[in-house]
Amino acid sequence: MMLHHSPALVVVKDPEGRILLANRRYEALPVQPPEVARAQRESDQFALQAGDSIEVEETFVQADGTRRTYLSVKFPMFHDGLEPYATCAISTDITERKRIEIELRGRLAELGALNRRLEEAQNQLLQSEKMASIGQLAAGVAHELNNPISFVYSNYGSLKSYVEDLFAMLDAWDGALACPDAVRCPTVATVERLKAERDLSFLRTDIGELMDESREGLERVRKIVQDLKDFSHVADTEFHWADLHRGLDSTLNIVHNELKYKARVVKEYGDLPEIYCVPSQLNQVFMNMLVNAAHAIVDNGVITVRTGRGADCVWVEIADTGRGIAPEHLKRIFDPFFTTKPVGEGTGLGLSLSYSIVKKHGGRIDVCSEPGAGSTFRVTLPIDPKPEAEQAG
Ligand SMILES: Nc1ncnc2c1ncn2[C@@H]1O[C@H](COP(=O)(O)OP(=O)(O)O)[C@@H](O)[C@H]1O
Ligand SMILES: [Mg+2]
Repeated sequence: MMLHHSPALVVVKDPEGRILLANRRYEALPVQPPEVARAQRESDQFALQAGDSIEVEETFVQADGTRRTYLSVKFPMFHDGLEPYATCAISTDITERKRIEIELRGRLAELGALNRRLEEAQNQLLQSEKMASIGQLAAGVAHELNNPISFVYSNYGSLKSYVEDLFAMLDAWDGALACPDAVRCPTVATVERLKAERDLSFLRTDIGELMDESREGLERVRKIVQDLKDFSHVADTEFHWADLHRGLDSTLNIVHNELKYKARVVKEYGDLPEIYCVPSQLNQVFMNMLVNAAHAIVDNGVITVRTGRGADCVWVEIADTGRGIAPEHLKRIFDPFFTTKPVGEGTGLGLSLSYSIVKKHGGRIDVCSEPGAGSTFRVTLPIDPKPEAEQAG
């Protein structure tokens, strides 16, 4: 019988499952374990009831005890188109094909993951590019504002001393007019009338107040311009020695608006030496953390900024009394795009960017958080990362 030469398993069974015909390969199989036999019987029955051919994947235990997977085509056989008298099953070994398929699927998943990582990396690059151009913009605005503010400021100084001079002169006049020997000419009466009408004493106090307020406003604008400059520092994407407290202060001023309705900021600065770093990038890290802290605070809380130093490192801690981080999220907060904020509010990039900046400085970020009580982010930075970088490079 030519079926004996087929690499497939061929068997014909009656409706009770008795073998009517089988090729050699099928006959060479050992007795199948009960669960395998049962599954095969069920699909035989299914083909009989369907009255048509079906395809199923089946397992056959081999003579050496291994299990192999087969694709079986099963179809009922009819005498003369009435009742089926048997089912025929032709089973092809697809074990190898399945193995390759699974392997391919694994590879595909790996490629997918790799692709996603590439996309994330690209997005991070875009984000840091964006931050850089925001920095440039800020620096440009600061530069443009700097000139007019400077001359308004210096004019203000002159104006103030001129006004003082004018008032001094008026006082002298007053003295002269009060003197009984003063010539009583009609002009004197006009002067007295004008003085009363224009309320000179009111002008005197109000001009003083206006000048003081303007001075305060000017000081504030100057401070903002200085902060913008400090914050952006476009020129220095390079490492140099810098004072972290100065960066922290200008960053706090910049985010003041975002914080002020939510939190009181408490500064507990220690003694810090200058460190070798890229200040504008570290400012970004502090800004991300301060904004996150404010977001975590539901109604009203406290954000504490602490600093201190170790033997060859310094640390900056930003602690909040916000809602904290769920333990299952703690591992993921540094992942790009991980955010628990609504769409449009969180990008999930702040901490991943911070992480790469701190890593570039040879430092690290530690987080501890108690859900419901608050979180503390601690950035530890080497004072001078150069020796390590030289070793590594
Ligand atoms: N101080 C904090 N308190 C509570 N959760 C925080 C805090 N900082 C970060 N997180 C959590 O980490 C997530 C990722 O933060 P981040 O990378 O800055 O992205 P984003 O702020 O855009 O969501 C936040 O969505 C939040 O769930
Ligand atoms: Mg954030």
